[in-house]
Order: sequence, then structure tokens, then C-alpha cells
Amino acid sequence: MSTTGAGLRSALLAASALTAVFSAAAPAAAEGQLTVYCSVQEEWCRPMMAAFEKETGIKVSMTRKSSGETYAQVKAEAANPKGDIWWGGTGDPHMQAAEEGLTQEYQSPKNAELNDWAVRQWEQSKHRAIGVYSGALGFAYNTKLIAEKKLAEPKCWADLLDPKLKDEVQVADPNSSGTSYTMLATMVQIMGEQKAFDYLKALHKNINQYTKSGAAPAKATSLGETTVGIAFMHDHVTMIVEGAPMKVVAPCEGTGYEIGSMSIIKGAKNLDNAKKFYDWALTPAAQAIGAQAKSYQVPSNKATPVPPQAPKLSEIKLIDFDFAKYGSSEERKRLLAKWDAEVKNQPK
Ligand code: G6P
Repeated sequence: MSTTGAGLRSALLAASALTAVFSAAAPAAAEGQLTVYCSVQEEWCRPMMAAFEKETGIKVSMTRKSSGETYAQVKAEAANPKGDIWWGGTGDPHMQAAEEGLTQEYQSPKNAELNDWAVRQWEQSKHRAIGVYSGALGFAYNTKLIAEKKLAEPKCWADLLDPKLKDEVQVADPNSSGTSYTMLATMVQIMGEQKAFDYLKALHKNINQYTKSGAAPAKATSLGETTVGIAFMHDHVTMIVEGAPMKVVAPCEGTGYEIGSMSIIKGAKNLDNAKKFYDWALTPAAQAIGAQAKSYQVPSNKATPVPPQAPKLSEIKLIDFDFAKYGSSEERKRLLAKWDAEVKNQPK
């Protein structure tokens, strides 16, 4: 009797385990797929996709690339789009993609919960890009290297031109990186175009490497591969939280900032799922994954807690960044071509 009972119990358990396996697999098959182009740090992309899969049963295929690179990919694939939604990365290439008709209009019911700056991005992009986070540009230095090399602690953009910093500064290439394009547009807005290019040409002498990704210089500063790294301030904070000997600087002249954005790709093959991801990515629960992944931007939903580690935008001298102008196709192309011609290929 007891043997039969035990046998029945284990048979039932086995049966319920099987049901569990099938029911876990079933929604994925039924709910379909989604291809996401992710332009934040890989460390944030991965848990974000896993959480969405878990919640919806939709199978996500994700590619991580920098903002400018993703824009180039979306443009190259325009005749036969492979991606459904582009999540994260600086707003400028999202704005350019919107203007060029590479992305499509969408009004999420979540818009009502967002900060004004996020909604303004949506309005300025003619309802094609929405703000998902914000963060200020800055630089950081490796405190050990600064002390060892007996260098003055830089506080201003101007300090980065010090000849003693020859080959000691790292920043990304603005063609691939939205971080670096934000710097280029910031300098033009602070100094005027002529002086900004003079500045960038002078800075070129101190640059040891133009990286592909915007946050790479923060990592290199943490490892002591460069003394100074230019990146978003929150990317430097991530390194400090992980124990790097670094100090973050909000430059004395003032600085620019990003509105990290999200867009649905025109011709998305999984449009309904792209909309589901879009709505979900604007919820406080989804946005809170950023801080859990040590990404310390300011989230766009007013109800998402701002991580205590996030640099306080109200305490930083921010310029009145013209996102419409510097995200316009003509201006972005023109400034990048000028940077290639006048800065990147100059001898040092
Ligand atoms: C990092 C930052 C993001 C930013 C992104 C831009 O991931 O944490 O806030 O949007 O860089 O990347 P990119 O490589 O295009 O400069």
C-alpha cells in the first residue's frame, strides 16, 4: 500500500514536473520572438533581456553595439530590417534615425509616467524616440597614476590640454560612440565651433587611443591603462563602486548630457513584441534593473528610484543642450566629417 502510495506520489511529481517543463516552454513558442539592439553596457543589456523573457515568455535575441554603430547597422539593414527595437544609447543617433525614417512612431501608455526631458525627446523626434535615462558627461582620473606621475588634478576641460598629459587621455571615436559625439557637440555649444575644433585638435596630442565604445575609457582608467578617461560620469562611478582608485570630475566650464533613448525599428518583423518591450522598458520595475547592474543613470520614469550612486544632475553645471539641432541628420553628419578631417587623422 505504502509502496503503491509512494509510487503514485513520485509518478504525480514526475507528471507535474513534466507539466512545468512544458508550460515554461509553451509561452515562448506561443509568444514568439524579439530582436533587440542594445546600446548600454553589456552588463545591463543581459539582465534586462533575461527579465523581459521571464516576464513575457518572448524569446529575445540581443546584440550589443555602441550608439553610432547601431545607427549604422539599422541604416544598412533598412531594406530588410533584422532588428525590432533599439534600446539605450545616446539620443543623437536615435534622433538621426527618426529623421531619416529608419524608426517608427509609437505612443506608449507609459509616456504619462515619464519626466519631461524624456517626453521632450519623443516630441522632438516626431514620436519616434523616447527617453529612457539621462546622465552627464565628464572625465575621471586614476588617483594612483596622478600621484605617481606628480600631475596636477584636472578640474576643467581646459586642464586636459596640459602638455604633461601627452598620451595620458582616452576618449572614444564619435563616429561609433554616442558618448564621444556628446562631447563633440558639448564643446561646440560651450566654446563655439571654431574654438571647439581648436580645442579638440589640441586635445588630440594628449589622446592615447580613440576607443570604439564610449565607456571603454572609464574601464581603462580603472585599470591604470590611461591616467584620464572621458566618458559619462555614471560610467566612472561604476568603476569606483567596483573599487577602482578613481576620482570623477564635473568639468568647471560646464558639461553636456545625454538622453539615453529607445526606438522601434521601421519594418520590425515582431512589431507587437517590440511594443510590449517598449512599454515594459518604461516601467519602474524594468528601469530598476539598471542600478542592480551597476548602471547609475537617472531613469526616465518618475516612479523609478534614482540610484543613490547616480551623479546628481542638479549639482552639475549642465549646458542647455540642443538635442534637436545636434541630433539632426545634417548637423551630425557634418560635425563627424569635420572631426574625421580635422582631428582624427592629424599627426601628433
Ligand atoms: C554607456 C553609458 C550609457 C551610454 C552609452 C553610449 O553604456 O552607460 O549611458 O548611453 O555608453 O554608448 P557609446 O558606446 O555609444 O558611447
